[in-house]
Amino acid sequence: MAEVRLINVWKKFGDFTAVKDMNLHIKDGEFMILLGPSGCGKTTTLRMIAGLEEPTKGQIYIGDRLVADPERDVFVPPKDRDVAMVFQSYALYPHMTVYDNIAFPLKLRKIPKDEIDKRVREVAEMLGLTELLHRKPRELSGGQRQRVALGRAIVRRPQVFLMDEPLSNLDAKLRVKMRAELKRLQRQLGVTTIYVTHDQVEAMTMGDRIAVINAGQLQQVGSPDEVYDKPANTFVAGFIGSPPMNFLEGTLTEDGFVDFGEFRLKLLPDQFEVLRERNLVGKTITFGIRPEDIHDALFAQVKVPGENMVTADVDIIENLGSEKIVHLRVGVLRFLAVFRSESRVQEGQKIDVVFDMRKAHVFEKGSGKAIF
Ligand SMILES: Nc1ncnc2c1ncn2[C@@H]1O[C@H](COP(=O)(O)OP(=O)(O)OP(=O)(O)O)[C@@H](O)[C@H]1O
Ligand SMILES: [Mg+2]
Repeated sequence: MAEVRLINVWKKFGDFTAVKDMNLHIKDGEFMILLGPSGCGKTTTLRMIAGLEEPTKGQIYIGDRLVADPERDVFVPPKDRDVAMVFQSYALYPHMTVYDNIAFPLKLRKIPKDEIDKRVREVAEMLGLTELLHRKPRELSGGQRQRVALGRAIVRRPQVFLMDEPLSNLDAKLRVKMRAELKRLQRQLGVTTIYVTHDQVEAMTMGDRIAVINAGQLQQVGSPDEVYDKPANTFVAGFIGSPPMNFLEGTLTEDGFVDFGEFRLKLLPDQFEVLRERNLVGKTITFGIRPEDIHDALFAQVKVPGENMVTADVDIIENLGSEKIVHLRVGVLRFLAVFRSESRVQEGQKIDVVFDMRKAHVFEKGSGKAIF
Protein backbone atom coordinates (compact mmCIF):
# COMPACT_ATOMS: atom_id res chain seq x y z
CA MET A 1 0.00 0.00 0.00
CA ALA A 2 1.12 3.51 -0.66
CA GLU A 3 0.02 7.03 -1.28
CA VAL A 4 0.45 8.54 -4.72
CA ARG A 5 1.31 12.19 -5.30
CA LEU A 6 1.36 14.22 -8.48
CA ILE A 7 3.06 17.59 -8.11
CA ASN A 8 2.71 20.19 -10.88
CA VAL A 9 2.55 17.45 -13.49
CA TRP A 10 2.34 18.41 -17.16
CA LYS A 11 2.10 16.25 -20.25
CA LYS A 12 2.54 17.68 -23.73
CA PHE A 13 2.30 15.82 -27.02
CA GLY A 14 4.01 18.24 -29.43
CA ASP A 15 2.23 21.59 -28.88
CA PHE A 16 -0.85 19.91 -27.46
CA THR A 17 -1.19 19.97 -23.68
CA ALA A 18 -2.97 16.80 -22.53
CA VAL A 19 -2.41 17.36 -18.78
CA LYS A 20 -1.94 20.82 -17.34
CA ASP A 21 -0.27 21.45 -13.98
CA MET A 22 -1.94 18.56 -12.14
CA ASN A 23 -1.68 18.44 -8.36
CA LEU A 24 -3.25 15.40 -6.80
CA HIS A 25 -2.62 13.57 -3.53
CA ILE A 26 -4.14 10.10 -3.33
CA LYS A 27 -4.08 8.74 0.22
CA ASP A 28 -2.91 5.35 1.31
CA GLY A 29 -5.71 2.82 0.76
CA GLU A 30 -7.97 5.35 -0.93
CA PHE A 31 -10.29 4.63 -3.87
CA MET A 32 -9.75 7.69 -6.07
CA ILE A 33 -11.73 8.26 -9.24
CA LEU A 34 -10.48 10.29 -12.19
CA LEU A 35 -13.64 11.54 -13.89
CA GLY A 36 -14.08 13.67 -16.97
CA PRO A 37 -15.26 13.74 -20.58
CA SER A 38 -13.56 11.91 -23.43
CA GLY A 39 -10.13 13.34 -24.24
CA CYS A 40 -9.72 15.26 -20.95
CA GLY A 41 -6.49 13.46 -20.03
CA LYS A 42 -7.59 10.65 -17.68
CA THR A 43 -5.74 7.82 -19.39
CA THR A 44 -2.67 9.99 -19.90
CA THR A 45 -2.58 10.75 -16.17
CA LEU A 46 -2.94 7.06 -15.30
CA ARG A 47 -0.26 6.07 -17.79
CA MET A 48 2.16 8.58 -16.23
CA ILE A 49 1.55 7.01 -12.81
CA ALA A 50 2.07 3.55 -14.30
CA GLY A 51 5.29 4.64 -16.01
CA LEU A 52 3.97 4.03 -19.53
CA GLU A 53 4.29 7.73 -20.25
CA GLU A 54 6.86 10.23 -18.99
CA PRO A 55 5.61 13.60 -17.72
CA THR A 56 6.91 16.66 -19.57
CA LYS A 57 7.32 18.44 -16.23
CA GLY A 58 6.59 17.80 -12.56
CA GLN A 59 7.07 15.04 -10.02
CA ILE A 60 5.28 11.78 -9.30
CA TYR A 61 5.74 9.94 -6.01
CA ILE A 62 4.55 6.44 -5.15
CA GLY A 63 4.91 6.13 -1.40
CA ASP A 64 8.10 7.99 -0.47
CA ARG A 65 9.73 7.13 -3.74
CA LEU A 66 10.15 9.66 -6.53
CA VAL A 67 9.29 7.70 -9.68
CA ALA A 68 9.26 10.49 -12.26
CA ASP A 69 10.87 13.91 -12.45
CA PRO A 70 12.27 14.94 -15.83
CA GLU A 71 14.13 17.90 -14.32
CA ARG A 72 16.16 15.57 -12.09
CA ASP A 73 16.31 12.89 -14.79
CA VAL A 74 14.36 10.44 -12.68
CA PHE A 75 12.25 7.84 -14.44
CA VAL A 76 11.45 4.49 -12.83
CA PRO A 77 10.20 2.00 -15.46
CA PRO A 78 6.75 0.38 -15.03
CA LYS A 79 8.05 -3.01 -13.89
CA ASP A 80 9.86 -1.40 -10.95
CA ARG A 81 6.92 0.69 -9.75
CA ASP A 82 4.93 -2.08 -8.08
CA VAL A 83 1.65 -1.01 -9.64
CA ALA A 84 -0.86 -3.21 -11.46
CA MET A 85 -2.96 -1.83 -14.27
CA VAL A 86 -6.33 -3.13 -15.49
CA PHE A 87 -7.44 -1.83 -18.87
CA GLN A 88 -10.78 -1.55 -20.59
CA SER A 89 -9.73 -4.21 -23.08
CA TYR A 90 -8.32 -6.77 -20.69
CA ALA A 91 -6.34 -9.09 -22.95
CA LEU A 92 -6.34 -12.56 -21.42
CA TYR A 93 -4.14 -15.25 -22.95
CA PRO A 94 -6.67 -17.29 -24.96
CA HIS A 95 -4.71 -20.55 -24.94
CA MET A 96 -4.19 -20.51 -21.16
CA THR A 97 -6.66 -21.63 -18.50
CA VAL A 98 -8.05 -19.20 -15.95
CA TYR A 99 -5.56 -20.65 -13.47
CA ASP A 100 -2.58 -19.98 -15.73
CA ASN A 101 -3.82 -16.53 -16.68
CA ILE A 102 -3.94 -15.52 -13.01
CA ALA A 103 -0.66 -17.28 -12.21
CA PHE A 104 1.19 -15.68 -15.12
CA PRO A 105 2.53 -12.52 -13.40
CA LEU A 106 3.82 -14.66 -10.51
CA LYS A 107 5.56 -17.11 -12.86
CA LEU A 108 7.26 -14.15 -14.53
CA ARG A 109 8.60 -13.17 -11.13
CA LYS A 110 9.92 -16.68 -10.51
CA ILE A 111 7.85 -17.23 -7.39
CA PRO A 112 7.94 -20.84 -6.06
CA LYS A 113 5.24 -23.13 -7.43
CA ASP A 114 3.40 -23.91 -4.19
CA GLU A 115 3.33 -20.20 -3.24
CA ILE A 116 1.82 -19.48 -6.69
CA ASP A 117 -0.78 -22.20 -6.17
CA LYS A 118 -1.74 -20.83 -2.78
CA ARG A 119 -2.13 -17.26 -4.05
CA VAL A 120 -4.02 -18.17 -7.22
CA ARG A 121 -6.56 -20.20 -5.21
CA GLU A 122 -6.92 -17.43 -2.65
CA VAL A 123 -7.63 -14.85 -5.35
CA ALA A 124 -9.97 -17.22 -7.23
CA GLU A 125 -11.93 -17.76 -4.01
CA MET A 126 -12.21 -14.02 -3.44
CA LEU A 127 -13.48 -13.44 -6.99
CA GLY A 128 -15.77 -16.48 -7.18
CA LEU A 129 -13.64 -18.12 -9.87
CA THR A 130 -12.74 -21.35 -8.05
CA GLU A 131 -15.08 -23.50 -10.16
CA LEU A 132 -13.76 -21.95 -13.36
CA LEU A 133 -10.00 -22.33 -12.89
CA HIS A 134 -9.66 -25.06 -15.54
CA ARG A 135 -11.59 -23.15 -18.23
CA LYS A 136 -10.23 -21.14 -21.14
CA PRO A 137 -11.25 -17.46 -21.58
CA ARG A 138 -13.55 -18.27 -24.54
CA GLU A 139 -15.60 -20.48 -22.19
CA LEU A 140 -16.35 -17.55 -19.88
CA SER A 141 -18.92 -14.74 -19.83
CA GLY A 142 -17.78 -11.11 -20.13
CA GLY A 143 -18.10 -10.55 -16.40
CA GLN A 144 -16.15 -13.69 -15.59
CA ARG A 145 -13.38 -12.63 -17.96
CA GLN A 146 -13.28 -9.24 -16.32
CA ARG A 147 -12.87 -10.94 -12.95
CA VAL A 148 -9.98 -13.02 -14.30
CA ALA A 149 -8.29 -9.82 -15.46
CA LEU A 150 -8.79 -8.36 -11.98
CA GLY A 151 -7.46 -11.58 -10.45
CA ARG A 152 -4.31 -11.28 -12.51
CA ALA A 153 -3.80 -7.74 -11.16
CA ILE A 154 -4.66 -8.61 -7.55
CA VAL A 155 -2.51 -11.75 -7.33
CA ARG A 156 0.66 -9.66 -7.48
CA ARG A 157 -0.36 -7.71 -4.34
CA PRO A 158 0.86 -4.44 -5.81
CA GLN A 159 1.12 -1.20 -3.85
CA VAL A 160 -1.29 0.53 -6.21
CA PHE A 161 -4.06 -0.55 -8.60
CA LEU A 162 -4.58 1.53 -11.72
CA MET A 163 -7.83 0.83 -13.54
CA ASP A 164 -8.83 2.40 -16.83
CA GLU A 165 -12.57 2.02 -17.44
CA PRO A 166 -12.41 -1.69 -16.57
CA LEU A 167 -16.21 -2.14 -16.64
CA SER A 168 -17.06 -0.32 -19.85
CA ASN A 169 -17.20 -3.49 -21.98
CA LEU A 170 -19.83 -5.11 -19.79
CA ASP A 171 -23.60 -4.89 -20.24
CA ALA A 172 -25.51 -2.52 -17.99
CA LYS A 173 -26.70 -5.09 -15.46
CA LEU A 174 -23.33 -6.74 -15.05
CA ARG A 175 -21.69 -3.35 -14.70
CA VAL A 176 -23.89 -2.51 -11.73
CA LYS A 177 -23.02 -5.84 -10.11
CA MET A 178 -19.29 -5.54 -10.79
CA ARG A 179 -19.32 -1.97 -9.46
CA ALA A 180 -20.34 -3.21 -6.03
CA GLU A 181 -18.01 -6.24 -6.21
CA LEU A 182 -15.02 -4.11 -7.11
CA LYS A 183 -15.72 -1.70 -4.32
CA ARG A 184 -16.05 -4.51 -1.77
CA LEU A 185 -12.84 -6.08 -3.04
CA GLN A 186 -10.95 -2.82 -2.79
CA ARG A 187 -12.12 -2.34 0.80
CA GLN A 188 -11.11 -5.89 1.65
CA LEU A 189 -7.63 -5.54 0.12
CA GLY A 190 -7.14 -1.93 1.22
CA VAL A 191 -4.90 -1.24 -1.78
CA THR A 192 -4.68 2.35 -3.03
CA THR A 193 -6.72 2.41 -6.24
CA ILE A 194 -6.92 4.98 -9.01
CA TYR A 195 -9.89 4.34 -11.22
CA VAL A 196 -10.62 6.14 -14.48
CA THR A 197 -14.14 6.59 -15.80
CA HIS A 198 -16.26 9.06 -17.74
CA ASP A 199 -19.38 7.64 -16.11
CA GLN A 200 -20.45 9.88 -13.25
CA VAL A 201 -22.70 7.20 -11.73
CA GLU A 202 -19.71 4.85 -11.48
CA ALA A 203 -17.69 7.67 -9.95
CA MET A 204 -20.34 8.60 -7.38
CA THR A 205 -21.06 5.02 -6.33
CA MET A 206 -17.48 3.70 -6.10
CA GLY A 207 -15.14 6.50 -5.14
CA ASP A 208 -13.95 7.64 -1.73
CA ARG A 209 -13.07 10.82 -3.58
CA ILE A 210 -13.50 12.02 -7.14
CA ALA A 211 -11.03 14.14 -9.12
CA VAL A 212 -13.01 15.91 -11.83
CA ILE A 213 -10.91 16.79 -14.88
CA ASN A 214 -11.74 18.92 -17.91
CA ALA A 215 -9.44 19.69 -20.85
CA GLY A 216 -6.37 18.44 -18.98
CA GLN A 217 -7.10 20.54 -15.91
CA LEU A 218 -8.19 19.41 -12.48
CA GLN A 219 -11.47 21.12 -11.62
CA GLN A 220 -12.21 19.80 -8.13
CA VAL A 221 -11.30 16.96 -5.81
CA GLY A 222 -13.80 15.86 -3.20
CA SER A 223 -16.03 13.15 -1.81
CA PRO A 224 -19.08 12.24 -3.90
CA ASP A 225 -21.23 14.36 -1.56
CA GLU A 226 -18.89 17.34 -1.85
CA VAL A 227 -18.77 17.40 -5.64
CA TYR A 228 -22.55 16.94 -5.81
CA ASP A 229 -23.54 19.44 -3.09
CA LYS A 230 -20.75 21.98 -3.47
CA PRO A 231 -19.51 21.93 -7.05
CA ALA A 232 -16.58 24.32 -7.51
CA ASN A 233 -17.76 25.60 -10.88
CA THR A 234 -20.35 25.20 -13.62
CA PHE A 235 -18.33 22.43 -15.28
CA VAL A 236 -18.42 20.18 -12.20
CA ALA A 237 -22.03 21.17 -11.48
CA GLY A 238 -23.04 20.19 -15.01
CA PHE A 239 -20.98 17.01 -15.16
CA ILE A 240 -22.04 15.46 -11.84
CA GLY A 241 -25.71 14.54 -11.62
CA SER A 242 -28.14 13.15 -14.15
CA PRO A 243 -30.04 14.81 -15.66
CA PRO A 244 -27.56 17.69 -15.29
CA MET A 245 -28.06 20.83 -13.25
CA ASN A 246 -30.19 23.57 -14.85
CA PHE A 247 -28.38 26.85 -15.48
CA LEU A 248 -30.30 30.09 -16.00
CA GLU A 249 -28.85 33.55 -16.39
CA GLY A 250 -30.50 36.23 -14.31
CA THR A 251 -30.04 39.66 -12.82
CA LEU A 252 -29.78 40.20 -9.09
CA THR A 253 -32.34 42.78 -7.96
CA GLU A 254 -32.10 45.17 -5.01
CA ASP A 255 -34.94 43.40 -3.19
CA GLY A 256 -33.18 40.01 -3.24
CA PHE A 257 -34.62 38.34 -6.32
CA VAL A 258 -32.97 36.76 -9.33
CA ASP A 259 -34.84 38.10 -12.34
CA PHE A 260 -34.78 35.79 -15.36
CA GLY A 261 -37.01 37.98 -17.53
CA GLU A 262 -39.84 35.45 -17.74
CA PHE A 263 -40.04 34.99 -13.96
CA ARG A 264 -38.27 35.80 -10.70
CA LEU A 265 -37.11 33.71 -7.73
CA LYS A 266 -36.47 35.04 -4.25
CA LEU A 267 -33.13 34.14 -2.70
CA LEU A 268 -32.84 33.23 0.98
CA PRO A 269 -31.64 36.20 3.10
CA ASP A 270 -28.15 34.77 3.71
CA GLN A 271 -27.74 33.91 0.03
CA PHE A 272 -28.64 37.46 -0.95
CA GLU A 273 -26.26 38.85 1.66
CA VAL A 274 -23.31 36.92 0.16
CA LEU A 275 -24.07 38.29 -3.31
CA ARG A 276 -24.71 41.82 -2.08
CA GLU A 277 -21.34 41.87 -0.32
CA ARG A 278 -19.72 40.95 -3.61
CA ASN A 279 -21.37 43.96 -5.25
CA LEU A 280 -23.44 41.80 -7.56
CA VAL A 281 -26.71 43.72 -7.16
CA GLY A 282 -27.83 44.77 -10.66
CA LYS A 283 -25.36 42.33 -12.25
CA THR A 284 -25.93 39.14 -14.23
CA ILE A 285 -25.21 35.85 -12.47
CA THR A 286 -25.57 32.20 -13.44
CA PHE A 287 -28.21 30.54 -11.32
CA GLY A 288 -28.06 26.76 -10.96
CA ILE A 289 -30.60 24.29 -9.62
CA ARG A 290 -30.70 20.53 -9.92
CA PRO A 291 -33.76 18.96 -11.58
CA GLU A 292 -34.39 16.97 -8.39
CA ASP A 293 -34.72 20.25 -6.46
CA ILE A 294 -37.66 21.45 -8.54
CA HIS A 295 -40.91 19.90 -7.33
CA ASP A 296 -44.48 19.49 -8.44
CA ALA A 297 -46.23 22.11 -6.26
CA LEU A 298 -48.88 19.56 -5.23
CA PHE A 299 -46.20 17.72 -3.25
CA ALA A 300 -44.22 20.72 -1.99
CA GLN A 301 -44.37 21.99 1.59
CA VAL A 302 -43.30 25.61 1.32
CA LYS A 303 -44.77 27.36 -1.71
CA VAL A 304 -45.04 31.09 -2.23
CA PRO A 305 -46.28 32.25 -5.65
CA GLY A 306 -43.87 34.80 -7.10
CA GLU A 307 -41.10 33.80 -4.67
CA ASN A 308 -40.31 30.13 -5.19
CA MET A 309 -43.32 28.99 -7.22
CA VAL A 310 -43.69 29.38 -10.98
CA THR A 311 -46.28 28.28 -13.53
CA ALA A 312 -44.65 26.33 -16.35
CA ASP A 313 -45.66 24.50 -19.54
CA VAL A 314 -44.94 20.79 -19.61
CA ASP A 315 -43.25 19.84 -22.89
CA ILE A 316 -42.12 16.25 -22.65
CA ILE A 317 -42.16 13.68 -19.86
CA GLU A 318 -39.62 10.86 -19.66
CA ASN A 319 -41.13 8.25 -17.37
CA LEU A 320 -38.47 6.17 -15.63
CA GLY A 321 -40.94 4.33 -13.40
CA SER A 322 -39.44 5.37 -10.07
CA GLU A 323 -39.43 9.00 -11.19
CA LYS A 324 -40.31 11.26 -14.10
CA ILE A 325 -38.00 13.64 -15.93
CA VAL A 326 -40.18 16.59 -16.86
CA HIS A 327 -39.15 19.10 -19.54
CA LEU A 328 -40.56 22.48 -18.53
CA ARG A 329 -40.82 25.83 -20.24
CA VAL A 330 -41.66 29.33 -19.06
CA GLY A 331 -41.78 31.60 -22.10
CA VAL A 332 -38.41 31.12 -23.82
CA LEU A 333 -36.73 29.58 -20.75
CA ARG A 334 -36.40 25.81 -20.56
CA PHE A 335 -35.38 23.60 -17.65
CA LEU A 336 -35.78 20.06 -16.37
CA ALA A 337 -37.36 18.77 -13.20
CA VAL A 338 -37.40 15.29 -11.72
CA PHE A 339 -40.73 14.46 -10.10
CA ARG A 340 -41.54 11.52 -7.89
CA SER A 341 -43.60 8.82 -9.56
CA GLU A 342 -46.84 9.82 -7.80
CA SER A 343 -46.97 13.09 -9.73
CA ARG A 344 -49.85 12.88 -12.24
CA VAL A 345 -48.40 15.55 -14.51
CA GLN A 346 -49.29 15.29 -18.23
CA GLU A 347 -47.57 16.53 -21.38
CA GLY A 348 -49.09 19.79 -22.67
CA GLN A 349 -50.35 20.82 -19.21
CA LYS A 350 -49.60 24.00 -17.31
CA ILE A 351 -48.39 23.22 -13.80
CA ASP A 352 -47.07 25.00 -10.76
CA VAL A 353 -43.52 24.07 -9.85
CA VAL A 354 -41.63 24.93 -6.69
CA PHE A 355 -37.89 25.64 -6.54
CA ASP A 356 -36.21 24.48 -3.35
CA MET A 357 -34.18 27.65 -2.86
CA ARG A 358 -32.07 26.09 -0.08
CA LYS A 359 -30.54 24.00 -2.87
CA ALA A 360 -29.91 26.91 -5.23
CA HIS A 361 -26.39 27.57 -6.57
CA VAL A 362 -24.98 30.79 -7.92
CA PHE A 363 -21.91 31.02 -10.17
CA GLU A 364 -19.95 33.98 -11.48
CA LYS A 365 -20.97 34.70 -15.03
CA GLY A 366 -17.98 34.29 -17.30
CA SER A 367 -15.56 32.36 -15.08
CA GLY A 368 -18.30 29.94 -13.95
CA LYS A 369 -16.76 29.83 -10.46
CA ALA A 370 -19.17 28.89 -7.69
CA ILE A 371 -20.18 31.57 -5.19
CA PHE A 372 -22.42 29.04 -3.40
N1 LIG B 1 0.42 9.63 -27.85
C1 LIG B 1 -0.33 10.72 -28.07
N2 LIG B 1 0.00 11.64 -28.99
C2 LIG B 1 -0.73 12.75 -29.20
N3 LIG B 1 -1.85 13.05 -28.53
C3 LIG B 1 -2.24 12.18 -27.58
C4 LIG B 1 -1.51 10.99 -27.30
N4 LIG B 1 -2.16 10.33 -26.30
C5 LIG B 1 -3.23 11.09 -25.99
N5 LIG B 1 -3.29 12.19 -26.75
C6 LIG B 1 -4.29 13.26 -26.66
O1 LIG B 1 -4.35 13.72 -25.33
C7 LIG B 1 -5.69 13.97 -24.94
C8 LIG B 1 -6.01 13.18 -23.69
O2 LIG B 1 -6.06 11.81 -24.03
P1 LIG B 1 -6.48 10.71 -22.99
O3 LIG B 1 -6.35 9.39 -23.65
O4 LIG B 1 -5.73 10.91 -21.73
O5 LIG B 1 -8.02 11.06 -22.75
P2 LIG B 1 -9.10 10.33 -21.83
O6 LIG B 1 -9.53 11.34 -20.82
O7 LIG B 1 -8.56 9.04 -21.33
O8 LIG B 1 -10.31 10.10 -22.86
P3 LIG B 1 -11.29 8.83 -23.06
O9 LIG B 1 -12.38 8.99 -22.05
O10 LIG B 1 -11.79 9.04 -24.46
O11 LIG B 1 -10.49 7.58 -22.90
C9 LIG B 1 -6.57 13.62 -26.14
O12 LIG B 1 -6.90 14.80 -26.81
C10 LIG B 1 -5.68 12.74 -26.98
O13 LIG B 1 -6.00 12.86 -28.34
MG1 LIG C 1 -9.06 7.04 -21.72
